[in-house]
Amino acid sequence: MRKTNDNKVFQSGIFSLVALLFIYIGFVRAQQTVYKNFHPGEEWLDTNGEVINAHGGGIIYFDDTYYWFGEHKIAGPEGNKAMIGVHVYSSKDLYNWTDRGIALQVSGDPKSEIVKGCVLERPKVVYNNKTGKFVMWFHLELKDQGYSAARTAVATADNVTGPYTYLRSYRPNANKWPINATAKDTMAAKGGDSTLLKLPGMERATAGFYLRRDYPIGQMARDMTIFQDGDKAYLIYASEENYTMNIAELTDDYLSFTGKWCRLLIGGHNEAPAMFKVGGKYYLITSGCTGWAPNAARSAVSSSIWGPWKKLGNPCVGPDSSITFHSQSTYALKIQGKKNAFIFMADRWQPENPIDGRYIWLPIQFNTDKIVIKWIDEWNLNFFDKN
Ligand code: GAL
Repeated sequence: MRKTNDNKVFQSGIFSLVALLFIYIGFVRAQQTVYKNFHPGEEWLDTNGEVINAHGGGIIYFDDTYYWFGEHKIAGPEGNKAMIGVHVYSSKDLYNWTDRGIALQVSGDPKSEIVKGCVLERPKVVYNNKTGKFVMWFHLELKDQGYSAARTAVATADNVTGPYTYLRSYRPNANKWPINATAKDTMAAKGGDSTLLKLPGMERATAGFYLRRDYPIGQMARDMTIFQDGDKAYLIYASEENYTMNIAELTDDYLSFTGKWCRLLIGGHNEAPAMFKVGGKYYLITSGCTGWAPNAARSAVSSSIWGPWKKLGNPCVGPDSSITFHSQSTYALKIQGKKNAFIFMADRWQPENPIDGRYIWLPIQFNTDKIVIKWIDEWNLNFFDKN
């Protein structure tokens, strides 16, 4: 009898110790969440002490607050598929982020295009002044179809943090030629387009093969971003089996396409677009196409969004610049209240355990007409006042 009581006392003692340990760990983590600096590539906790889960993200500034939207990833290789949806966080200072929940949930309905297990990547949100709605665009791959659907999809909400309602997906601009199509682009090759099949992909793209192939069904749309320019907004996306980038103008409500679009970096094999505008010039940062593995970033500039785009080369300099500091671009964030201040946002993917992917945020610097991105272990927004 006595023994049983002793056991109970012992067990409840252990239980209390474990509980105290958990409380202590929680306390220490909560303590760590007050940041005054960016620490690119390091674990980044939200204000609850949880690791921020918003990959392939984008940020919108609304009502004096930044909102960070990104792919919620789970542990293990299945985590590359959308099992939860789009996560949103808010922040006033860009260092400390509060979890605002899941803005767009994947669906439990097997007939839904965004059913759990689909691929839902690179969500970007813009606010439409005319309709008062928030509009989210993202890259969608239908469940169990690999990356073959190559669609872009749209959802809307009345409140910035959602819930977002899924509307539909697109292969953009079916039966519309781009504004920079040449007469040759619109005509099949001599002897038929099948003669082009022997060419490498890049040359097929330059010969207009994919453009003509997908003309009746709409162009492929994979890695993407949204760029808002005054009241206008544009979808910038990797098309033509990732060989060509496209820019397509959105309708006034931002929910579909006007039919005005152009091709750029034709045959260049780019993905992961991030766009920003400085002094009337548009800058585009992209990556090469090596899946989750990092490669060298590229950049381009143009005085008009419709081109002509001039290539500027790799904006990254210093050690590991040939692999974008082990990351891939996702967004160029404009800093409020500072002149010409932009953050290059990139993902350090962990395809084997996607939840463990890290965020690389670095300042974008300007050198005459070029943009420059340098690695910094730790930095804050004062950087933009000094440089
Ligand atoms: C990357 C792309 C990611 C994801 C991945 C899949 O290149 O940027 O968003 O699509 O490929 O392999």
